[in-house]
Amino acid sequence: MKILIVYYSRSGITKNVANILKEKLDADIEEITDNNKYSGAIGWLKGGFNASTGRLSEINPISKNPLHYDLTIIGSPVWASNIATPVATFINKNYKDLTKVAGFVTCGSGGGEKALEKMSEECEKQLEATMILTSKDIENDLDKKINTFIDKLKL
Ligand SMILES: Cc1cc2nc3c(=O)[nH]c(=O)nc-3n(C[C@H](O)[C@H](O)[C@H](O)COP(=O)(O)O)c2cc1C
Repeated sequence: MKILIVYYSRSGITKNVANILKEKLDADIEEITDNNKYSGAIGWLKGGFNASTGRLSEINPISKNPLHYDLTIIGSPVWASNIATPVATFINKNYKDLTKVAGFVTCGSGGGEKALEKMSEECEKQLEATMILTSKDIENDLDKKINTFIDKLKL
């Protein structure tokens, strides 16, 4: 099965999880990058505002076409109980090219369920498998949670 992992990460947490999945699944990987900078305190506020109001922003195109993969795994940080704006923008531009989709989110403590519901809605698909990683999970339970997610993919 050909798997593509597509993720956005503002501060590296989602990126780390995406890279572990890449190694475990022997998948291709693409980082979503955004010219609309979300760094610093202003970026944090802008991110929260854009995510909670469903705004989109400009992202750079990725080089791989999800249409050429059997499964796309989308990874996002939770922003205001939603998927991060660059991920919402990626889905908005590419949802027609997504075959099967699975999703994971990283968050401080809450909002993961709502964010994954939003991801599924925006993709117009049921997600094959989902994973929510709070900062506590990442500290104590990362490998176990990732292995459970991979089992749910039924590869
Ligand atoms: C704009 C913004 C909004 C956030 N909203 C939430 C939230 O609603 N719930 C939560 O638990 N964490 C929230 N967080 C924390 C991030 O989801 C969390 O730190 C995530 O793991 C960061 O991933 P990253 O390092 O890949 O960017 C928010 C962070 C940002 C920047």
